[in-house]
Amino acid sequence: MENFLNAMPKAELHLHIEGTLEPELMFLLAERNGINLPYASVEQLKAAYDFGNLQDFLDLYYQGADVLQTEQDFYELTWAYIEHCRAQHVIHIEPFFDPQTHTDRGISFATVINGISRALDDAKKQFGMSSGLIMCFLRHLSEAQAFETLKQAQPHLDKIIGIGLDSSEQGHPPAKFERVFAKAKSMGLLLVAHAGEEGPAQNVIDALDMLHVDRIDHGVRASEDPQLIKRLVKEKIALTVCPLSNTRLKVFSDMSEHNILKMLDVGVKVTVNSDDPAYFGGYLTENFVALYHALDMSKEQALALCRNSFEYSFASPERKVEMVGLLEQYRN
Ligand code: ADE
Ligand code: ZN
Repeated sequence: MENFLNAMPKAELHLHIEGTLEPELMFLLAERNGINLPYASVEQLKAAYDFGNLQDFLDLYYQGADVLQTEQDFYELTWAYIEHCRAQHVIHIEPFFDPQTHTDRGISFATVINGISRALDDAKKQFGMSSGLIMCFLRHLSEAQAFETLKQAQPHLDKIIGIGLDSSEQGHPPAKFERVFAKAKSMGLLLVAHAGEEGPAQNVIDALDMLHVDRIDHGVRASEDPQLIKRLVKEKIALTVCPLSNTRLKVFSDMSEHNILKMLDVGVKVTVNSDDPAYFGGYLTENFVALYHALDMSKEQALALCRNSFEYSFASPERKVEMVGLLEQYRN
């Protein structure tokens, strides 16, 4: 089954590129850029990856991103993720990046986006890997700062397919970004937002009704509202669920408690994703394998999850048909 899950053609729709920064690369970049890390070794750093909640993780994650300084750093970060994808048969990716994490410490928007998108272009050329880059706003920052970031993105709109909303959900509800999302939509950008990860089901409803998102990131707490689950099924709204993230951040106390397969079985368009694999103990295959071990996920369920990822991706209609075809071929 583990081989079956690894070799299955997959797509990843919820992945923070800064969350793919492995400790070894963090140390290498720190040395190259003359930055002091508050850890003596890779082992000591890894020992700190013991999170009580989302905020514990975010504090470490923003600190780790400090080592990213040059366009080449962002290229190498993205390339390392692409190599993991290659090894795990991930054929389409829609990574998030957090420009504000970098621009707020003096790194230019262009440095960040050019490094990431050059790696994505190379992956397309060399391996035929398709992708779409999504720019996230940090929700703990202000609406004005999000508008400023959207302005900085203007000269780079050819490299971005959509916008997202991440960081601390508690205390920063979707309503705060209603006008920014409306503006982004008017610019032709697709919309996603983290909602119902640590925050209540109401945040999922508000992300749909106030932000008009095309997909919900996480959304696992939607299951606390049976009416909302019915709506997600009826309106075919995809959730980009991240199993290992949810257990590492204590959204579920144990993988055996995870609700992804229950939602799949009632018809919610759930997908499997790795969120921040360098911090949560695994890439896409490891997330599928964890579901198999804890929830006895069947091959049919795994294939259905994958199919959802292809169908609810932001790839072109032709590419979607091609990817679903590859999955059908794999099944038989
Ligand atoms: N940024 C990176 N990972 C995140 C997550 N799981 N939730 C919110 N913001 C994030
Ligand atoms: Zn996320």
